[in-house]
Amino acid sequence: MEKSTLIGPFKQIITMTGIPLKGAVKDSELHIISDGGIIITGSTITKIGDFELLKESDKIAETITLKGNHVCVPGFIDAHTHICFGGSRAKDYAMRNAGKSYLEIAHAGGGIWDTVMQTRKSTQEELTKSTIKLANRHLKNGTTTIEVKSGYGLSVDEELKMLRAIKEANITAMPDLIPTCLAAHMLPKDFQGTETAYLSEIADHLFPMLKSEKLANRIDAFIEESAFSAEDIKDYFNTARALKFDITVHADQFTPAGSKVAVNYKALSADHLEASTENEIEIIANSDTIAVALPGASIGLGCDFTPARKILDAGAALAIASDHNPGSAPMGDLLTQASILGTFQKLTNAEVLSGITFRAAAALNLSDRGKLEEGLLADFAVFHSDNYQDILYNQGNLKPCMVWKDGNLVYD
Ligand code: NIG
Ligand code: FE
Repeated sequence: MEKSTLIGPFKQIITMTGIPLKGAVKDSELHIISDGGIIITGSTITKIGDFELLKESDKIAETITLKGNHVCVPGFIDAHTHICFGGSRAKDYAMRNAGKSYLEIAHAGGGIWDTVMQTRKSTQEELTKSTIKLANRHLKNGTTTIEVKSGYGLSVDEELKMLRAIKEANITAMPDLIPTCLAAHMLPKDFQGTETAYLSEIADHLFPMLKSEKLANRIDAFIEESAFSAEDIKDYFNTARALKFDITVHADQFTPAGSKVAVNYKALSADHLEASTENEIEIIANSDTIAVALPGASIGLGCDFTPARKILDAGAALAIASDHNPGSAPMGDLLTQASILGTFQKLTNAEVLSGITFRAAAALNLSDRGKLEEGLLADFAVFHSDNYQDILYNQGNLKPCMVWKDGNLVYD
């Protein structure tokens, strides 16, 4: 029989249980276990509750007794990143801060296409290595699950290279990596044909490979004037749905175009939403699609934040992700960005924590994580503190002192 380990006492365990998936949340709705403990068996939590009571359980082979004050929260889930890429876009950042717009930079040879050129020059092994490095950096900040998009290959072969690199990285990286195919990031400049011709080539030749090599279950598209329109994406998303891929959309980043598409195709999530108006917010709130705010892109581009307060008040589910990428969101620090979004959008601690735990898990269709309860993965981050409020109060500067993934202490 597998041996069990008891860990505790934690001054507070914030379980993130009992909170609805959608809508505003008060801090008083947080379920807090004081002086709690967690029993881990294999990769899962088998018991959680009062530390002294848990000590009485039989089958505990080992007890890890913590000294001092500790707060335990579910491992953070970053539901939107582009951490598989080659090169750097420091030049774009400088140009942008010198007054050039996102589109002007793209037209001058920067932007997404620049990263495509640099990613195509990288070998699969190089991409695997750099992805592992970034993923493990995120782990130290408490992130135990990271969605990773392709989208810098933009041909069947180059997208395959990226997704194979991500699959390989997932073997070694400490967080779980959840791959997403973002071949519909932009029309590649070297493609001789229309948007729809490119998308059919991807759907015809790449989608079957994603299934046969188990490279990704998720299809993303950038719906924007500089990328694909609602009309362009129709057949692509219909094919993706027929093949039972989950759908997610880069929506309403600069113009309010993508969220309607996301809801129409029953996307798991509509991400960005900086340009969403009341109309788009209502459409999302009346659907099962999760809104994903990406404050890292607002900070990177110097743009408005996603109207997260309005989204929650309208009754939608809100996740918060880093969008970590070399162009629009180079910082890649989920906890810092989520705290800052909370400050500017007046989000409660409970709303921000929900956005980077169980609501983010829902955006990835993962039901085995995001909360601390019996039967779920033993993925959690531990902070030196006697009060969970310290985590967001420190705006990313209070780092975890321990991170557990699949029942193993992976960082301390
Ligand atoms: O989520 N909006 C489109 N895609 C990325 C940016 C990628 C890039 O600039 O390289 C985003 O912000
Ligand atoms: Fe993105």
